[in-house]
Amino acid sequence: MTATPQILDLSDRTNGVNVRMDAETGEMTLKYAPPHEPFSFTATLQTDPAALKTVCAGGAMLEAARPAAMTKRLQQIPARAVWPANAVGQRIRLFLEWLVTSKENTNYTYDLTPLNLTYLASTISVVTARPTAEIESYLTEPTADSELTQHYTDSISALRPDLAAVADPIARWSRRVGWYALVRAVKPRVVVETGVDKGHGALLLCAALRRNAAEGHQGRYIGTDINPAAGYLMRPPYNDHGRIMIGDSIESLRTLKEPIDIFINDSDHSADYEHAEYQTIAPLLRTGSVVIGDNAHVTDKLARFAAETGRRFLYFSEAPREHWYAGAGIGFAFT
Ligand SMILES: C[S@@+](CC[C@H](N)C(=O)[O-])C[C@H]1O[C@@H](n2cnc3c(N)ncnc32)[C@H](O)[C@@H]1O
Repeated sequence: MTATPQILDLSDRTNGVNVRMDAETGEMTLKYAPPHEPFSFTATLQTDPAALKTVCAGGAMLEAARPAAMTKRLQQIPARAVWPANAVGQRIRLFLEWLVTSKENTNYTYDLTPLNLTYLASTISVVTARPTAEIESYLTEPTADSELTQHYTDSISALRPDLAAVADPIARWSRRVGWYALVRAVKPRVVVETGVDKGHGALLLCAALRRNAAEGHQGRYIGTDINPAAGYLMRPPYNDHGRIMIGDSIESLRTLKEPIDIFINDSDHSADYEHAEYQTIAPLLRTGSVVIGDNAHVTDKLARFAAETGRRFLYFSEAPREHWYAGAGIGFAFT
């Protein structure tokens, strides 16, 4: 059995690598000299002495057993660190920028990367059996619609101070542009969204229904939210195309009688509640109906619902542009 040294020394001085750890104090030193890029790092491991001794004993054993492999691994550290350090650093930069420029505390807003929008168009093209170019053109509409973006900015700017304090007055739609393009492609008569919050999705869905109506395809939006203050973005002229039912979603869904063409689950995000919503609306779905799950990055409930009801399932993973948030996704159950 290898004795526990007080100083674990894994240095390879002939190759300019100096690595030491003190089992008593927890101080770790890493130094690179030529032929490597000079580099020095010292840290104190804040852990209990027994754990330090175990690390040192383990390190000594490894060093005794595989000295060449150990040295090689240490030599590789600087080169291996470059890519992840850049990636993590970029995320930290975005986080710090967001911290001082945004007011949002939940339900973050951002745009999607151009590549991600291309994949979104392809995904919706499969779901709707419409040409990708048609879906791509729908995806550009919300950002190009100055009336819609102005409506968004004006609505946030006119909010009560407590609500305005946690909302940014810039229209950024995230994965919801996919919801919009789906409504434009399907021309639904009834769209139901559970969980309205500010009305971000509601506004966008009503904007899509408004365009459809201008092209001769009438449709209605029904939103549900337990919070009586939900949906403040749903103001004229967009609220002409829908209404919000206040109360528990499942209770509200039980009162619906008409077929649902597009259903969006985005309320209580527990798996059981999500499952219960799909079970509640199942009798109102028909061939061609599309069910969207905004919880699909967390649970498999929509994928399972699709399998149980003879539907296909696709998952789109969103990629936020210039935002620290890793993004959520859209689950699609469709026939
Ligand atoms: C993630 S937000 C919805 C975001 C919205 N779809 C959008 O596009 O921004 C979730 C919303 O669900 C609502 N909610 C939570 N539990 C609910 C329930 N049991 N019934 C109805 N609404 C619920 C919350 O009040 C909240 O506004």
